[in-house]
Amino acid sequence: MASAKHEPVKIGVLYSTSGVTGLIESSQQSATLFAADEINRAGGVNGREIQLYVRDPGSVAANYAAMAEELIVEQGVRLIVGCYMSSGRKLVIPVVERHNALLFYPTLYEGFEYSRNVFCTGTLPNQTCVPLADYMLENFGSRVFMIGSDYIYPYETNRIMKDFVFERGGETVEETYVPLDAPEEHYRAIAARIAALAPDFVFSTVVGVGVERLYRSFARSGLDPSRTPIASVTTSEAEIAAMGAHLGEGHFASASYFQSIDSPANRACIANYARFMGGDVVTNMCWEAAYFQMHVLANAMRKTNSDNPVALLRAIPGMEYDAPQGRVRIDDENHHTWLHTRIGRTDRTGQFDIVSASPERVRADPFVIAHTPADGASTGPGYGIAAGGWS
Ligand code: ACM
Repeated sequence: MASAKHEPVKIGVLYSTSGVTGLIESSQQSATLFAADEINRAGGVNGREIQLYVRDPGSVAANYAAMAEELIVEQGVRLIVGCYMSSGRKLVIPVVERHNALLFYPTLYEGFEYSRNVFCTGTLPNQTCVPLADYMLENFGSRVFMIGSDYIYPYETNRIMKDFVFERGGETVEETYVPLDAPEEHYRAIAARIAALAPDFVFSTVVGVGVERLYRSFARSGLDPSRTPIASVTTSEAEIAAMGAHLGEGHFASASYFQSIDSPANRACIANYARFMGGDVVTNMCWEAAYFQMHVLANAMRKTNSDNPVALLRAIPGMEYDAPQGRVRIDDENHHTWLHTRIGRTDRTGQFDIVSASPERVRADPFVIAHTPADGASTGPGYGIAAGGWS
């Protein structure tokens, strides 16, 4: 472990810039480089520069684990940021546990996990699916068609969402899973099936290259988002920019962060990021989590004057940070993050009109003990969202 006063702080960076989820993970990698640049320009970690060890796992789950092992064993890295698909994260966890390293994971996921060696800064189903179920059933109706990519995150998230829909008097009319690299014809057949079943909305946990194929097939089949919208927890500004705003317009997403958040902190962060990138930028929920977790980590290292995982494990729980989405907090116990949750409707420019927002950040409930926003308030002042519910 580096301890010399001016020795750089080594951080491994495991985001794919190629493969099926290369688009969204590239944004997470850029956010990490941007945050590291900000930290280094501000004097690093008590004078120590952050040195990134960047790898591209190519969206292949086993590569994340192999690269984590290489970073730890060959490069002496003890702090790793990264992973998008849950299949990759699940293989990295035993590696960081075995070597007593830490993983910082900035991606929405299904929850039902705790590792002493992992901090999760993306949303959980209690922070996205609960409000989305409330909003969609209230505004569109109770018959839901569920579609996901064929791996663990969509299975688990749809299982949880089905409970929320059922508890609200709704029903899942059909559930289907699509291979990660399925061609567009596959999605066209599903869009035809959706048109035939005429659900009130479609809940999507499709990730990566499939997102564009889904939305294009949807549009080509004549489905109208004003009558049968897609409501997603995985579609972000990144995928919409890639597919073209016309295909995303009118569909919904639930997220902790949208680029359109009209706050001085978000506007300043985007302006700084545009300067760093040298042109126009598109940000998204995964970009934002990848960005703020680097600053949380840097603050914890400054506070402990150490990059030792044992010292950081004591310092990080309970830490707060003024992120572009608003103030976030790392839970005191469960290694997940209290986040501001929002529902957005895509406009014609590919940005989200925020149609609903939690009045306060929502505590992280990885085991979904509370099935409604109001239950979240029951853990004490400031721990859940305000008793008034959603705006
Ligand atoms: C995911 O697989 N956690 C998006």
